[in-house]
Amino acid sequence: MQPECLDGGTVVLRPLRDDDLQAIVEACQDPEMIRWTTIPQPYGEPHARDFVHAFAERGWADDTRAVFAIADPVTDAYLGAVDLRLAPDESAEIGYHVAPWARGRGVGTAALRLVCRWGLEVLGLQRIEWQAAVGNVGSRRIAEAVGFVVEGTCRRRLVHRGERVDAWIGSLLPGELR
Ligand SMILES: CC(C)(COP(=O)(O)OP(=O)(O)OC[C@H]1O[C@@H](n2cnc3c(N)ncnc32)[C@H](O)[C@@H]1OP(=O)(O)O)[C@@H](O)C(=O)NCCC(=O)NCCS
Repeated sequence: MQPECLDGGTVVLRPLRDDDLQAIVEACQDPEMIRWTTIPQPYGEPHARDFVHAFAERGWADDTRAVFAIADPVTDAYLGAVDLRLAPDESAEIGYHVAPWARGRGVGTAALRLVCRWGLEVLGLQRIEWQAAVGNVGSRRIAEAVGFVVEGTCRRRLVHRGERVDAWIGSLLPGELR
């Protein structure tokens, strides 16, 4: 797949670039990122380079992942990232984070809505799956805001910093996006 740019008005989704590296490293020092995601710890520039090139670029190239930077529509500055991990059966799993300095003003919700619309309408996905460690109410709040239905709790579903933890799981199907 060719990397895409999507314009959602309040946010833009665009390919990750080397000039995002510093902001990615900064965002990944945040306690909430460490608490709720599987980012390496400690997190430095080599990890950010890996994210931009090995994870994102390669994902687009081999059709396994569509990885976007969430950017400010005016300044183009990095505000976070959202990705769809694509399975061969027209389904995908979504992942996202918003940098601490961009939180609490609808960026996560807008980015989620935009990438899900693209996934359903352009890629023809039949199911987008969301999962988060139990207790990640921020992640759940924005998933539900765009139409994801929480289906339940999977016991010891995720390995988080060496420990197995329970996960909420949910999905968004065609026609459900809000
Ligand atoms: C979860 C996250 C993406 C939210 O991004 P955001 O841009 O701040 O979210 P929004 O501003 O769109 O918030 C939408 C709603 O969720 C609520 N919300 C956001 N974070 C919240 C939190 N930590 N606790 C409770 N509610 C939260 C907001 O109050 C808002 O509610 P409202 O619509 O009733 O006003 C961001 O906090 C984050 O990156 N967290 C760390 C990484 C992470 O957990 N990623 C998901 C892994 S599954």
